[in-house]
Formats: sequence, C-alpha cells, structure tokens
Amino acid sequence: MSEPIVKLSNVWKVFGAKAREAMQAIRGEGIGKAEALRRFGCVVGVRDVSLEVPRGEIFCIMGLSGSGKSTLIRHVNRLISPTSGTIEILGRDIAALNERELRGLRAGHIGMVFQHMALMPHRSVRDNVAYPLEIQNVSKSRRWAVSDHVLGLVDLKGYEDRLPRELSGGMQQRVGIARALASDPEILLMDEPFSALDPLIRLQLQDQFKALAVSLKKTTLFITHDLDEAIRIGDRIAIMKDGVLVQVGTPEDIVMNPADDYVRAFIKGISRLKLVKAHSIMQPLSRFGGVADGLPRADGGVDLDRLIDLQVGSDQTVIVTEGGRDVGFVSKSQLLRGIQGGEHGGGEHGQGGEHGQGGRDGQGRGHGTPDRRRPGCVRCPDRG
Ligand SMILES: Nc1ncnc2c1ncn2[C@@H]1O[C@H](COP(=O)(O)OP(=O)(O)O)[C@@H](O)[C@H]1O
Ligand SMILES: [Mg+2]
Repeated sequence: MSEPIVKLSNVWKVFGAKAREAMQAIRGEGIGKAEALRRFGCVVGVRDVSLEVPRGEIFCIMGLSGSGKSTLIRHVNRLISPTSGTIEILGRDIAALNERELRGLRAGHIGMVFQHMALMPHRSVRDNVAYPLEIQNVSKSRRWAVSDHVLGLVDLKGYEDRLPRELSGGMQQRVGIARALASDPEILLMDEPFSALDPLIRLQLQDQFKALAVSLKKTTLFITHDLDEAIRIGDRIAIMKDGVLVQVGTPEDIVMNPADDYVRAFIKGISRLKLVKAHSIMQPLSRFGGVADGLPRADGGVDLDRLIDLQVGSDQTVIVTEGGRDVGFVSKSQLLRGIQGGEHGGGEHGQGGEHGQGGRDGQGRGHGTPDRRRPGCVRCPDRG
C-alpha cells in the first residue's frame, strides 16, 4: 500500500467526565461497554480502531445507528480528540497541530459533506460554494471561477444564481459536495450524505459521486448505514458494531466471507451477481474430470452475471483462467450455488464462518482468490 493518507492507530473514544478512569478499567480489567456506563457513567463510542486509507481510495464505514461511525470520522479533522490512540493525516500526527495549522488542515485538505448540508439560505448557490474560499480571503473573481467549475462537476451548471430553497434535496446535496470540493482537498469526509434522499435520487447520486471521486482521485471516508450503498461506492468497506470494526474488506470479501452474524444479517438480500467473481466460486482444475478443450473460458475476475451469459449460451462448464492460464472450472450447479450464496455455500469458498474472514487486519485480506490463498488451508485450490 502506498503511504496512507488517513491512518488511525488504536483509537479509543470514551465519552464522559470520568473517561480516563473508565479507560484505565477497560485496559486493566477488560470491562465492557455496559460496565463502563454503569461504573463510570461513560459511553464507549469507538473501541481500539486502527485503519489505513491509501490515496484515492473510497473507504466506506457501515454500521447500524449508534455504532460509532460519526464519532470515528470526527477524529479525522479533530472535531473530537481521541481518549487514546493517534490519528495521522497526510503523514502528520494531528494531535501535534496548533490552532492555525489545524485550521489550515481543515480548510485546505479536508472537505466535509453531511446528511443535512445547512446551506446559507440567503446566499446564492455560487456564494454558498465559494464560502470556504471566502474565509480564506481568496479574491472574488477566483472564488467565482472555482465555484462555477465545481458546480459544473456536480452537474449544476445554470443554477449558480439560484437560492438553495429553489433546489430539490438531491440538488442541495450536490451543492454541498461542490462546496466540499471548492478548496480542492485531498480528503473527503462524507457522513451519510445521501441518507435523507429518495431511493432513485440516491442511486443517481451514488453513481455520480463515485465517478467524480475516482476521476478527481479523492481519498474518501464515506459513512452509510446502507450496505447496498457501501457496495456501490466503496473500494473497501469497514463494518462497525458497538464502536469496533468487526470486518474490513472489499465488497466481495464481505459478501463471500462475513465475519460474524452481524455482518451476515447485513448481506442477506444483497445481490451477488455483480459482486462475486468466478475465482471465488470455482473448483480447482485438478478436480475437473472432463476434457477442457473447446469449453468456454472466462477470466477469474468476471462476475456471476457474465458467467450466467456464458453458460446460458453453451450449457457447458466454464473454464476459469488467470493471466491466460487455466486454473479452475465452474459447473452449472456451482454457478447456481454461487448465485444462491448464503448458508448454502458458494462452492469451495462458501460462507463457512471459520474459513477465510476478511479479518481485522485493516487490509481486508480475505481469501478465496488465487493470490489470497491461505497457506496450509486444505480447502484452497493448488495448496502447497
Ligand atoms: N458527545 C457525546 N457524548 C456522549 N455520548 C456520545 C457522544 N457522541 C456520541 N455518543 C455515543 O457514542 C455512540 C456512537 O455514536 P455515533 O458515533 O453518533 O454513532 P453513528 O454515527 O454510528 O450512528 C452512541 O452510543 C452515542 O450515543
Ligand atoms: Mg452518525
């Protein structure tokens, strides 16, 4: 991984007047959330979270309400300070920044978007977007040029002179995104930005935002309570429960190998067709009894949707390749099992909880793909 843009190391946040004492008892006696509340009147918001987000990654943080997502993300721009642990942004420990440096970090390097953007009602869309530059004393002509440019990026050209109330909810959120982009920050922090919008508008904004973040190479921490949204947007997803990151991994890692029942409950009903890849459901070639010549071939990275097309067309087993080499096969029954997923298993690498979780190493090293074999695992293809 290249130098992380955002790095959290063993971050704890305990709320309450006796946070220090509570922290000591957590460390020394191993007390839990309930006891911290009972004995010290303290709420454990974030519990020993470590994560690294490399440049350009869209990192989603997903979990139920109250699981600590907002508390976690507020550490990144030091809206709150950790009870314990360190936060490094762009290689600097932000606890060491003085007030002026902190203002510089927030104004110049971090853009924020919330669920309710609180646009200034009496200012035009253009002036709302230009506001972060105004407080940095950027000239008016420059402000307007930047504002018009970023409004173009979020598809709001022509609305510059309107007032916020003249815009729909989805458009107002796009104004919020434009405002966050105005100072061209490396990092975007988004706290449930689309949660209050209608489902269709939400889908549109998810796709639009994803394309924008990728093209602008923004490192993004994106909070949502909706796994569908996390899957659509995230390169990796961190799943949070009671202040703990219970699993970090790619969408495919999470869906193929949910770490526990909490994660399993979220992935119920998620369509696997575009998410699960051939390499995750294939059997190793060594188990193939027939003749592989002449059978349809697919790269290990193709999704189930594409495998269906191949099998519908030929009604034959598909040979899976990696780098042009035959490595495995997917029969019709394996494909059906792969689509079904859940407790029925997804072929060799079904969702047996004991087998290949995304893990808590912050890197989401799942397994089930040839480059992620677990050494010594008897269920992995080509072991040895
Ligand atoms: N300022 C605060 N004082 C006390 N408890 C707080 C404070 N902020 C958050 N909490 C508690 O921390 C936990 C996590 O909250 P939050 O981060 O807002 O969750 P989420 O964003 O996932 O819904 C909750 O139990 C919440 O009540
Ligand atoms: Mg929240």
